[in-house]
Amino acid sequence: MGAMEREWRAIKADAGDPARQEAVIRNIDLMIRESAISKLGVPGAIRRMPAEKQAEAVKSYHAMMLSTIKTLVALEEAVVEKKAEEIKKCIEQLDELEKKGHAEFLPEQR
Ligand code: HEM
Repeated sequence: MGAMEREWRAIKADAGDPARQEAVIRNIDLMIRESAISKLGVPGAIRRMPAEKQAEAVKSYHAMMLSTIKTLVALEEAVVEKKAEEIKKCIEQLDELEKKGHAEFLPEQR
């Protein structure tokens, strides 16, 4: 998921610029791919939990990752349709998902 940092920064800088649309869409697609790959794995933070807590944590992790993928798809649609308000809303939602996801599943690094 480390590669997402650069893509996410570029998306936030360029999402509202129609001249950068192709590059923005490519970066969103890269993030969708990386999110799907992350969803296929189990984060270290969950593997270190007591066995009986892991199933519930994986469920919550999957739900949050699915929301991330859905919001990235919505962001791509908003960029294609040049809907500035919708672009802003999706970016805010993704910032929130990142914050929550890392607080919950990347605790040792935050
Ligand atoms: C815009 C959304 C997001 C971005 C840009 C992002 C970016 C990143 C980056 C750059 C890292 C590596 C940094 C480091 O290791 O300190 C990372 C790691 C990680 N992120 Fe995210 N993230 C996002 C959303 C999420 C969400 C929603 C979740 C949870 C549902 C999540 C869970 C994790 C986990 C578990 C790791 C550690 C990977 C591992 O276990 O090996 N992230 N993320």
